Amino acid sequence: MTVNALGYLGIRSDRLDDWAGFAGGLLGMQTIDRGGKAMAFRMDDQAQRLLVSDEPGETLAFMGWEVDHADDLSAYAARLEQAGVTVHPATSDLRDRRLVADLIWFLDPMGNRVELFHAPMIASDPFVPGRPISGFRTGPLGMGHAVLHVRDIDVMLPFYRDLLDFHVSDYGLKPYGLYFFHVNGRHHSFAMVGSGQSGFHHFMVEFGNLDDVGQGCDLAQLEEGRIAYTLGRHTNDYMTSFYANSPSGFFVENGWGGRVIDPATWQPHETHDGPSFWGHERLYLSEDGGRKRLRDMRLDAAARGLRAPDVVDCPWLYGELVRQGT
Ligand SMILES: [Fe+2]
Repeated sequence: MTVNALGYLGIRSDRLDDWAGFAGGLLGMQTIDRGGKAMAFRMDDQAQRLLVSDEPGETLAFMGWEVDHADDLSAYAARLEQAGVTVHPATSDLRDRRLVADLIWFLDPMGNRVELFHAPMIASDPFVPGRPISGFRTGPLGMGHAVLHVRDIDVMLPFYRDLLDFHVSDYGLKPYGLYFFHVNGRHHSFAMVGSGQSGFHHFMVEFGNLDDVGQGCDLAQLEEGRIAYTLGRHTNDYMTSFYANSPSGFFVENGWGGRVIDPATWQPHETHDGPSFWGHERLYLSEDGGRKRLRDMRLDAAARGLRAPDVVDCPWLYGELVRQGT
């Protein structure tokens, strides 16, 4: 049994109109009207990927993680209950709202709602993006990644790693713990920021073309305060991205060119290079509130000549080249 992808995310927000403009207009998702109190958005052939429901909170409502087989749900339920976690089976109403064949749900140690599901509904009509983008990189890599604020990593780490089989990709320990996890070839589908806070830090969607991100960046700059981190490139997953302030306060990373790893051979390791090779200037932070420290880290990375490999890791491509004897 295994969790194999981030399948969907739910947001609690009463700013539905703002989300329609943000997810449909800026991100380029396809808006699906679910009636007065909820909205859904598509990113590909899956019937829905992002759900926004009209409930107070302006935060993450749930994360939906896909499993390989229908039987995996009962296997995970048994393991979680053995560990003292209360597991809820889905009602038929909940299955219908999530558009999946089956799911279970439970709370992690910080009260975040986690859903494990099987067999999402595939739409019968083709995906139509909300703005003219080339599409999102999803498929076996899932919808992107989700990142939580965490009060105590020592409590959250074993929950996701040992009970849900999330694999550590890498981690940094200074100035606070930052853990990245993979469940497929995407370098990370999940991460925890040990900031001492709670709540949702950001989610990331990956576009098929760098120009999709650049054009989104232009659109975001038309709105006062929309950009939270300027365009930059991350050191661990090589993602080129900017971060937008979502209508609910947390960030949404608009990415391109993320690294694909081979989970069979990947070794978890500590990183020391800071989050970015360049860019990602934190416009939302004050100079003394961390902005300068992060800038100094990437100026140091630049002074040491750190950069991503010229060719993005691609296990399939390397395998193919080996087969061809090149
Ligand atoms: Fe991210």
